[in-house]
Amino acid sequence: MPRFLHTRLCDLLGIEYPIIQAPMAWVAGPELIAAVSNAGGLGVLPAQVAQAKDRPSKPGHELPAPEEWFEGDEIELKRRLIRQIKSLTNKPFGVLVREDRRWMEMVVEEGIPVVVNSGGAPGRVPEFLKPYGIKVVHMGSTVAHAKKCQEAGVDAFVLSGYEGGGHDPGGNDKITTFAGLPQIVEAVDIPVIACGGIADGRGIVAAFMLGAEGVRVGTRFATTVEASNHINHKMAIVQAGDTDTVRRGEVFGDILRSLKNPFVKKLNELETSGAPLDEIKAYMGHESVRVAAMQRRLLGQVYGDAVNGEMHSGQIAGLIKEILPASEVIRRMVAEAEAIINGLARAWIEDRAFSRSITLPQG
Ligand SMILES: Cc1cc2nc3c(=O)[nH]c(=O)nc-3n(C[C@H](O)[C@H](O)[C@H](O)COP(=O)(O)O)c2cc1C
Repeated sequence: MPRFLHTRLCDLLGIEYPIIQAPMAWVAGPELIAAVSNAGGLGVLPAQVAQAKDRPSKPGHELPAPEEWFEGDEIELKRRLIRQIKSLTNKPFGVLVREDRRWMEMVVEEGIPVVVNSGGAPGRVPEFLKPYGIKVVHMGSTVAHAKKCQEAGVDAFVLSGYEGGGHDPGGNDKITTFAGLPQIVEAVDIPVIACGGIADGRGIVAAFMLGAEGVRVGTRFATTVEASNHINHKMAIVQAGDTDTVRRGEVFGDILRSLKNPFVKKLNELETSGAPLDEIKAYMGHESVRVAAMQRRLLGQVYGDAVNGEMHSGQIAGLIKEILPASEVIRRMVAEAEAIINGLARAWIEDRAFSRSITLPQG
């Protein structure tokens, strides 16, 4: 293993490679999480996950139906999934939780080693969980967010850059991964994890050059064999180019990056033309834009409706050309990063040898 890939984050989380699979609702189920953790990264269980309509579930590993998340007990559903993950791997994995006592008690009872949360403030999550030895990783997009997380006792900070797919990439100020990263690394002492726009070994090396000690990867893992989303979603990402995503929802406060399919294009047109909020809600199909977004996400990512549903993806989609097993994604990322670093080291040694061989004119 290349030494430069072994960072403080690996020791903190007990993982071999500093590669975290991003929590992605309706995409990252036990199969993907276990595959990532077994390959040396950290798989993470998101808020909800269901069986895509084109995939039969494996006996003994049935995923909840979408309705169960709205009608059933969310915590018990999570517990069921956590037990499935444990039956597939004995490596560390993470869980996304809410700031709620029942949630905290459940992750403590289940012996979860890492909690990986997305936007908003970390709240009292570190205070609750750290006495049990549980590591807390939290996401934000600015220097101020990173400092707040450090003060609250968060163990590692994820910078979610503008390039990324899904929820809140770049925050209100549209900070990009590669501009935000060095500034945040200067501002805090805890490990910083780059997230948004990273899909291969080049991305890892670039992020590490700016001081990151880990990467969190979404879109690339959404296009793996084990991901639980519909094949139409995976194929739409594989077929997308660099300009085929849009960050929508800035006007009505529910920022998400998605593929520009017919539903999202029209939504973006309404938003950018200054349509009133009521017209936007009517178009989305629900009084609450968040509920509407959840329904559209289900329609796209679980039911595979590429016209009326919403399908999240990052700007890096254009680099992803095939659906691979998650272990192969990790193997390639690590091998590419290693080859780049070895190449740089060789070039430096050769340059040094060359410059030493030059005899300077005397006098
Ligand atoms: C298909 C998809 C679904 C996502 N769903 C969620 C989610 O449910 N919750 C969340 O916090 N972030 C979600 N995200 C954002 C990721 O956690 C991560 O921040 C992002 O994917 C990183 O950028 P990348 O896609 O360029 O790797 C999602 C991203 C994608 C691509």
